[in-house]
Amino acid sequence: MKNHVWRPLYVVLAVVALILVARYLYVPKDFGIGERGFMYGYHRMSNETEWKEYKVKYQSHEYCNDCHPDKIESILRSTHKVIECENCHGPAVDHPEDPPKLDIDRSRAQCLRCHARLPYPTSSRGRIKGIEPDEHNVEMECADCHNPHSPGMGV
Ligand code: HEC
Ligand code: HEC
Ligand code: HEC
Ligand code: HEC
Repeated sequence: MKNHVWRPLYVVLAVVALILVARYLYVPKDFGIGERGFMYGYHRMSNETEWKEYKVKYQSHEYCNDCHPDKIESILRSTHKVIECENCHGPAVDHPEDPPKLDIDRSRAQCLRCHARLPYPTSSRGRIKGIEPDEHNVEMECADCHNPHSPGMGV
């Protein structure tokens, strides 16, 4: 073969060698597919432990039952049974150790994010019973009349 063919080939080989060296230096030693094959794709194995140590912030409503059973009981009998407590009160994390109390947000905005009427017929957000924020008992908080843990009963 002629020189003008060999020379670019050397360049290609040098680039490939450079990539392999860079890969050897930079890819972590525990990068791979792990025991469970390709289920989770290629990843760094030590990342699994990092995620196991990640603190779960949301506990779901079963967690509240021991200490606030009255709230659970009434919400499960209402149409709000589909909403998690922490959707309105924020993440429990280690409550009641930390934080000792969860937020209580009585603002209209809290309720309007779901109940401001939206004219979207094809979205399930559009099917939630809506009110006109500028007409429905303005200047009062929704919780003055509606019990958030039992809406619809005894407005
Ligand atoms: C181990 C018992 C325990 C569990 C579990 C628990 N709480 Fe509490 N919670 C408490 C205590 C104690 C207080 C403080 C009550 C006080 O000072 O009036 C409190 C306060 C609150 C408050 C503020 C009440 C106020 O009057 O200021 C809210 C809201 C609340 N909890 C919601 C929740 C939610 C939602 C969950 C579930 C994700 C939950 N809690 C789980 C014991 C618990
Ligand atoms: C739709 C939003 C919403 C949901 C869902 C919700 N809450 Fe509340 N919660 C409120 C509001 C607003 C108040 C304040 C009520 C008031 O001042 O009359 C409140 C008050 C409280 C209080 C303290 C005041 C009291 O009445 O004793 C506790 C404790 C509480 N909620 C626990 C819970 C638990 C447990 C759940 C889940 C079963 C839950 N909440 C679900 C909005 C909500
Ligand atoms: C995360 C979304 C969400 C939030 C926040 C929320 N709601 Fe609801 N609400 C619903 C859903 C879903 C329903 C039941 C479906 C429907 O309306 O047809 C409902 C139903 C209701 C109803 C009708 C009850 C009935 O049985 O006819 C009232 C009244 C109501 N909510 C008031 C409130 C008030 C007051 C707040 C604020 C404290 C609030 N909601 C916050 C989603 C929400
Ligand atoms: C002065 C008391 C009062 C206040 C404040 C109030 N409401 Fe109402 N709400 C009512 C009454 C009474 C009804 C039932 C009659 C009606 O449909 O107007 C009702 C009905 C509703 C309904 C059901 C509508 C339907 O189609 O069945 C929803 C949802 C609702 N309110 C949400 C809210 C929200 C969200 C707020 C705060 C932004 C709020 N309300 C503030 C008294 C109140």
